[in-house]
Amino acid sequence: MKNLKQQDPKIYEIIKREEKRQKEGLELIASENYVTPAVLEAMGSILTNKYSEGYPGKRYYGGNEVIDQAENLAIDRAKKLFGAEHVNVQPLSGSPANLAVYMALLKPGDKVLGFSLDQGGHLSHGHPLNFSGLLYTIIPYFVDKKTEEIDMDEVERIALKEKPKMILAGFSAYSRSMDWKRFKQIADKIGAFTFADIAHIAGLIAGGQIDSPVPYFDVVSTTTHKTLRGPRGAMIMSKAQFAQAINRAVFPGVQGGPHDHINAAKAVAFGEALKPSFKTYTAQIIKNAKSLSDALQKRGYRIVSGGTDNHLMLVDVFGSKGVTGKEAEHALEIAQISINKNMIPFDPRKPMDPSGIRVGTPALTTRGMKEKHMETVAEFIDRGIKNKDSETELKNLRKDVKDFAIKFPVPGIK
Ligand SMILES: Cc1ncc(COP(=O)(O)O)c(C=O)c1O
Repeated sequence: MKNLKQQDPKIYEIIKREEKRQKEGLELIASENYVTPAVLEAMGSILTNKYSEGYPGKRYYGGNEVIDQAENLAIDRAKKLFGAEHVNVQPLSGSPANLAVYMALLKPGDKVLGFSLDQGGHLSHGHPLNFSGLLYTIIPYFVDKKTEEIDMDEVERIALKEKPKMILAGFSAYSRSMDWKRFKQIADKIGAFTFADIAHIAGLIAGGQIDSPVPYFDVVSTTTHKTLRGPRGAMIMSKAQFAQAINRAVFPGVQGGPHDHINAAKAVAFGEALKPSFKTYTAQIIKNAKSLSDALQKRGYRIVSGGTDNHLMLVDVFGSKGVTGKEAEHALEIAQISINKNMIPFDPRKPMDPSGIRVGTPALTTRGMKEKHMETVAEFIDRGIKNKDSETELKNLRKDVKDFAIKFPVPGIK
């Protein structure tokens, strides 16, 4: 980065400080990951200079013969990775991708059945201030109070009563498998569209670790930057019959020109995910999550639904230790352990200071950590929470976290 250092030392220094933070801390935000140097290089390439409104072979700008090849490569690799009939790799991020799906399938005011936001759904699944909640009529479904898993009989009961035009399955904070087949069967009973948002678990699906909705669902969206370990962005997969509606909704419906450097980086990440080593990586993410969940339970923390089938878990820190999610997040941040406060199902507390925290293992697994290291990570989390009021103890912990973390290299950071 010698040019940047010379020309804009302020931004250069900021990047250096963030490198240090990423290297010396423990990243347990479930939606984050570290991309490979190859993905970084494609993202930082001169492909950013091009404008290419439209689709390969049908652009509104000249000079796209090279860009078309990059976008087609991303599409072909994504199709192979997920077995999708149609793929649009242009969505700039997860929320605009979801907006395009709503636009392609629905009219404003239409009913959508989606996972309740305070139990694990995403903002774009119906938050009152988000386009989804503002433009559509959202009917929520919930987890069972006892098992804390989605109650599919209840989903069916609500669907038959409300007859939504679309059923949305997907989550930001849920640790159990989704019954894609059953969602599809329910939708077929009422003639509803099926839309899966696999933003969090796309990598685990690509790695063959958990079931895919792609064979069953009409439309599937995902971000590319979480477990899939690509650049920040998204894509939409669909059955062939929805291809035209999806493409029109993305452009010109929601977006202008695609980000060609990002689409090339998506192609690189999909290429990486097609390799056998990605299977091993994604299997390890889940093994690590299960180990971390066990290690936290051993230390007296209640894990929502009793465990995890994927890369994340919700920890009821308030119910377990009388420490709120906000307090836990703050204490752990001082120790350079990144997690986020999170509502738990039927949370008696408020969203800004909820009962839970969400922790995930994709980023630590990318650094090469295995099951045995999760014991240490759980110990650090427990120490941070127990010592939340002691600045001195948290600073001591920060030093131990650093000594441990720097043994595991971060791709792309020396
Ligand atoms: C399930 C789900 N969908 C969509 C998104 C939105 O993605 P973005 O932040 O890229 O807009 C997220 C982000 O966390 C998510 O978890």
